[in-house]
Amino acid sequence: MDNAQTLSPEASEASTADFLPLLGTDYVEFYVGNAKQSAYYYQHAWGYEVVAYAGPETGVKDRASYVLQQGKIRLVLTTSLQPDSIISDHVKKHGDGVKVLALWVTDAAKALEETVSRGAKMAIPLEEKTDAFGTVKTASIFTYGETIHTFVERKNYTGVFMPGYQAKSSSFQVKPVGLQYVDHCVGNVGWGEMNTWVKFYEEALGFKVIISFDDQDISTEYSALMSKVVSNGNGFVKFPINEPAKGKKRSQVEEYLDFYHGPGVQHIAVATDNILETVADLRSRGVDFLEVPASYYDDLHARVGDIQEDINEIRKLNILVDRDDQGYLLQLFTKPVEDRPTLFYEIIQRRGARAFGKGNFKALFEAIEREQERRGTL
Ligand code: FE2
Repeated sequence: MDNAQTLSPEASEASTADFLPLLGTDYVEFYVGNAKQSAYYYQHAWGYEVVAYAGPETGVKDRASYVLQQGKIRLVLTTSLQPDSIISDHVKKHGDGVKVLALWVTDAAKALEETVSRGAKMAIPLEEKTDAFGTVKTASIFTYGETIHTFVERKNYTGVFMPGYQAKSSSFQVKPVGLQYVDHCVGNVGWGEMNTWVKFYEEALGFKVIISFDDQDISTEYSALMSKVVSNGNGFVKFPINEPAKGKKRSQVEEYLDFYHGPGVQHIAVATDNILETVADLRSRGVDFLEVPASYYDDLHARVGDIQEDINEIRKLNILVDRDDQGYLLQLFTKPVEDRPTLFYEIIQRRGARAFGKGNFKALFEAIEREQERRGTL
């Protein structure tokens, strides 16, 4: 039975002007235990290039940050150089994790004012940072857990990232894997909190719910979760919000909350236009993916019809396929990229489909449960 409701962002757009126009995801910042080594992992395994750096060599005494880029995706990896700091506290509690989901705006002051006047809580006031390349304005609000959204206005800036950082390049030849943009970022929130956070995105940021899944959609024999996807007006920014649901055993969202010690970013979906090449490259560099059983492919054609890709290649790389009324999508999920079973990545290629792979949920969650079982956390 199909309990999902799919609305297009256009159809649900309010008649009033968008009070928070977003140009896209500006960057994702991680607080990590060792940014130098994380930066090496993202360069070597994922093909991101270092483009900027801030640290003692550039006059920043308390932290080191590496800015990495591939396509339109920008990651910032930040570590503390001191035992007592917001960054160290974050890493101690959560392990390596996402602190900032930054949103690219045309007017940071207005973004802060509009969202705070609608109930958002300010995390960092408006800041104007200037160097020889111009000015960047930023301001931040809190979202779930200790995660924040930073509004970034860079229309008067021509430098590589922002003032305070210096241009830097990778010290070896990085080979990109074809990643292009952030498709969506998923948050895990606590029991019964999904609707609170959906309401926050609706009211304070002007987002709309475009899809919702209940625990009947997303359940296996053992565990369940519920999810709603909120999107901004132009669809450039999409945030699915998950909460755990009761099952016979422990929900994967509950496992996340236990290990992250609170709500946080569960996965980041990055888009490619050639998933076969991207996944083959990532696998050859040691990135681990969830495995679905061979039987998943037995009825693939019956479920999704004709696709452009070679089914044998799809099967060999263990890629998942799903179709909605507008096309199909190919996707694949990594295992968690830290020792704690917290953040992971999704690789996604959209061929028309605008949904999130509901047809794959069962196979996917059973794969996650096999991993939970190995960790003794199911
Ligand atoms: Fe996803």
